Parts: sequence; structure tokens; C-alpha cells
Amino acid sequence: MTLQAIKYSDGNLSIIDQLQLPYVERFITIQTTEEAWHAIKDMRVRGAPAIAIVAALALASELHKLIARNEIPHEAEEVQTLIMGKLDYLVSSRPTAVNLGDAARKLRAIVSDRTQRPQSTGRTVAAALIQAAEDMLVKDVEDNKNIGMYGARWIMANAVGDSKATVLTHCNTGSLATSGYGTALGVIRALASTGDLHHAYCTETRPYNQGSRLTAFELVHDGLPATLITDSMAAALLARPGAQVNAIIVGADRVAANGDTANKIGTYGLAVLAKYHGVKFLVAAPLTTIDLATPSGNEIIIEERPASEVTKIKGPRENQDSTQIELETVRIAADGINVWNPAFDVTPSVLIDGIITERGVVEKDADGQFHLGHLFRDPSPLTSGALASSP
Ligand code: MRU
Repeated sequence: MTLQAIKYSDGNLSIIDQLQLPYVERFITIQTTEEAWHAIKDMRVRGAPAIAIVAALALASELHKLIARNEIPHEAEEVQTLIMGKLDYLVSSRPTAVNLGDAARKLRAIVSDRTQRPQSTGRTVAAALIQAAEDMLVKDVEDNKNIGMYGARWIMANAVGDSKATVLTHCNTGSLATSGYGTALGVIRALASTGDLHHAYCTETRPYNQGSRLTAFELVHDGLPATLITDSMAAALLARPGAQVNAIIVGADRVAANGDTANKIGTYGLAVLAKYHGVKFLVAAPLTTIDLATPSGNEIIIEERPASEVTKIKGPRENQDSTQIELETVRIAADGINVWNPAFDVTPSVLIDGIITERGVVEKDADGQFHLGHLFRDPSPLTSGALASSP
């Protein structure tokens, strides 16, 4: 069974607290949009799709409770105003991942439409939002399974000869970063499910260690053949004759219209390495991560996070009783040093071989350009799951 990090039923939302992983598996309840905002900002939940789903479900949970307590305003317009304000607030939690903004835009449209319908009440508007948020949870898992399938097929057809696939991934893009299954990690899961995975390498992903804490946790949980490396070992791994890495697969926080991709800091360096070593470099992302309104990576806002994430590290002291683990924070940098801590970087599209979506894998045209707009215009799967995109 794959890991479940978001639990939701009838207005009751709880998430696994990712700040405690992999040492302690503890769920925390999220009852309000304020709690969701803080859980996102503090990275108790992180990963572009997961942030969006938790925000939407937190708002759904809040509305559920107002309905149950008979406290929902009667007027549709009043509930619309309430929802719009809460969505604006949620979107302000983290700037780089577009999925949250995309979810908010879709929810705003649904709420506006419902408010304008004849006989609408506050209750029917709230019910429409709740339904839409719950649908997002289900759809994200379905999309990830399709991403996994298309990505695995593409890798076997384009990056692997007669053998099985060896892949490298960065950050965490699995069940802990999405509603379930994962994007880049979903591709690794799909390769394993068809018996095509030889080995997966995951980077530690400094400074927040999403790779060593979260991806390694998921790989161990699923019993997949995997090895952890520090970020600085990636070049040596690609140069190592025995390793034979076929592809590097990463997730995305925002894919611009031209294919430039913002993802966890260190992604750009891996793409440069992949180009030098002739290794395929793939971005796995649902359509909710593709932002046609952002023309290129130059316009993507990169979140900068506190210096303490670089200068300190958290973990349990050794030899603690496993039922009562306490986490400690220790300093790992010289006191007084200046720190720059961008959470993401932008990989230019020239370094990307394919963008794996739930509709298939988009490749560049003969002029080296991605054309992502058609993914939104035509709902049918891309031919054979791999298409040189046309304008
Ligand atoms: O800062 P984080 O942990 O939220 O960053 C996460 C990433 O960069 C992921 O690679 C990205 O969100 C894709 S998750 C499917």
C-alpha cells in the first residue's frame, strides 16, 4: 500500500506532520484555513500539489462545520465574499508553486458561478466549494497514476535499451507531496510495478532534506531498490561507469509557458549535469503545475526561506526509546555567517527532454520549443503517450 499523507472525510482533515518525518509518524488535524496557512508556511505539508489540496480541503472543512452548526450565512453573496477572502489568504502562504493559485482560481470560478444561479443560498455556494475541493483530491491521485504510466513508458522507449531503468530523482515528489502516488516518484513507482525498475537514486536535497527524510522514507516504505546520495555526489554518480543512470526525473512547482521549470533548489544543477553526461532529463508535473500565464522562468518568483534552515538541522538523538522520540535542533554552521536560502531554482527548457503530464509526455518541436497550450485545449491523450508538441 502506498503511503497516505492526507486523510479527509466529511469535513475532517488531517495530515501527516512532515516536520517530524521520518522519525515520528504523527497526524495533525487541520480545522481552519489559518491552521492550513501555518502548516503550509512551516512546511508541515509541502510539495506543490499537496499544498493546493490541503488548502482547498481546509476551507471545505471550515465550511462543513459552519453548515453543521447552522452558522453559514443565508445570503449566497455573503458566503462568496467569505470564501474569496479565505482563498486570497491561503494563496499568500508560499509564492512559487502555482498549484495553489490554480486551485484558488478554479474554486473562485465555481463559487462565482454558483452564487449567480437563481435560488442560490449561502449553503448551496458552500456545498459547491466543498464538492469541488473533494473532487480535487480524487483527481490528483488519478492524474499522478497517469503521469506514472506515461513517464515509465517513455523512459523504457527512449532512455533504456534492453535492460531495466536506473533513475535519479531530487526532492520529494511522492505521496507526501501530492494527494497520493506522486509525480516523479509516481514514475518510479510505475516502473517498479511493471518490473522495469533496476534502481532508484535519491538526493538528500539540502537544505531541508526532503530527499533523505521523505523520499527515502517512501522508497523504504514501498520496498523499492534505492540508494541515497548527497546532492554533491550526483556528478560522480553520473560519471561512474557502473551506475548507468538512464534518466533524471524531477517534479515541478511551476512550469512556465515555454517549459522553463521552477523546482526544488538543485534541480538546475542536475539538468546541467544530465546534458553533459547525455542522460535524459524529465519533468513530471500535472496540468495544475503548468502556468501558461507565466511566459518564461524569468517571471517566476522564487521563495527565499529563513537562514536557520541552512544553519541548523533537526533530528532525534541516537538510542532513544522508539515510542518516545524527541527531536533536537543543532547548529551546523558558524555563528554569524550570512546565508542565502532560495527554496527553488529555474531549469531552462533547453535542458529538459520531456514534460510528463497526465495526458502524455510533451517533447520539443524541431526548433527546440515546447508548446504546452494544446494540453489545455484538447482533452484527449497525446498520441502514443509521447508527442513532439505542435503549436
Ligand atoms: O519546498 P517544497 O518541499 O515544497 O518543494 C517541493 C518541490 O520542489 C517538489 O519537487 C515539487 O513541489 C513537486 S511535488 C510533486
